[in-house]
Amino acid sequence: MKTSRSERFFVYTKGNMPAQLSNWAKDAGIEMRVPAAQATYFLYYSVNKLKLRWLGDKKFLPISAQTPGQKRVSSSNLLIKALGKRNRIIADLSAGLGVDALTIASTGRRVYCIERCPAVAMLLFDGISRCDPTLADLVELHFENSKFWLEQNSIKLDAIYIDTMFIGKKKSAKPSKQMQILRQLAGDDRDAELLINCALKQNVSRVIVKKYANAAACLERPVAQYRGKTIRFDVFKPGFNK
Ligand SMILES: C[S@@+](CC[C@H](N)C(=O)[O-])C[C@H]1O[C@@H](n2cnc3c(N)ncnc32)[C@H](O)[C@@H]1O
Repeated sequence: MKTSRSERFFVYTKGNMPAQLSNWAKDAGIEMRVPAAQATYFLYYSVNKLKLRWLGDKKFLPISAQTPGQKRVSSSNLLIKALGKRNRIIADLSAGLGVDALTIASTGRRVYCIERCPAVAMLLFDGISRCDPTLADLVELHFENSKFWLEQNSIKLDAIYIDTMFIGKKKSAKPSKQMQILRQLAGDDRDAELLINCALKQNVSRVIVKKYANAAACLERPVAQYRGKTIRFDVFKPGFNK
């Protein structure tokens, strides 16, 4: 992974990290520090996994990136349907812990994962490293703000996928503890609309935006919608929504 920024970020870590992970973080511009008294999170490596612990509440178990199981991803999977059969090179501009990116890669597509939160990017790097090499080879992780990544990108992409934090979701279903920690850590993604607008200026055949099922569409006219019980994928065609 390359990084072009001069800015440096840090995360609090405890204990030793595998060389592959610490080298990657160093190259990406992420500095590791010993937890200070004011630290609210720290990363530690235990039982072959990178974990993040929130010190605010002991009831919250540590989180880590999950690797996909052996089960084949069905072609009826809504995200895969929304991507379309022909689109094989995808950028996931809000990679998070990589659940969606690895689902996409499990179908043989190449996925560029972009994540801007340093601790989340490290968890994702660890998750990808634990995947079967055939799958891991299809994924490329960039620690970067996706807007800047897009502006500098020279890779020919077929489609772009965006799943920023849901804002204003009704409290009927409480988000999982993992999602609560992720949101505290990565923030509310208040700039999501900017990112979507930037994605819609790219030369790609479609932009897919994940929403909760009853949310208003972020733009007036998605060309298609794939609905599940709790979530929905809106498909936009660049140039179509002007
Ligand atoms: C809801 S989570 C994504 C979950 C992900 N789809 C998964 O399957 O694990 C949103 C993530 O997008 C990241 N994100 C939001 N806006 C971003 C941006 N402009 N550049 C890079 N990462 C971004 C946040 O840091 C956060 O980790």
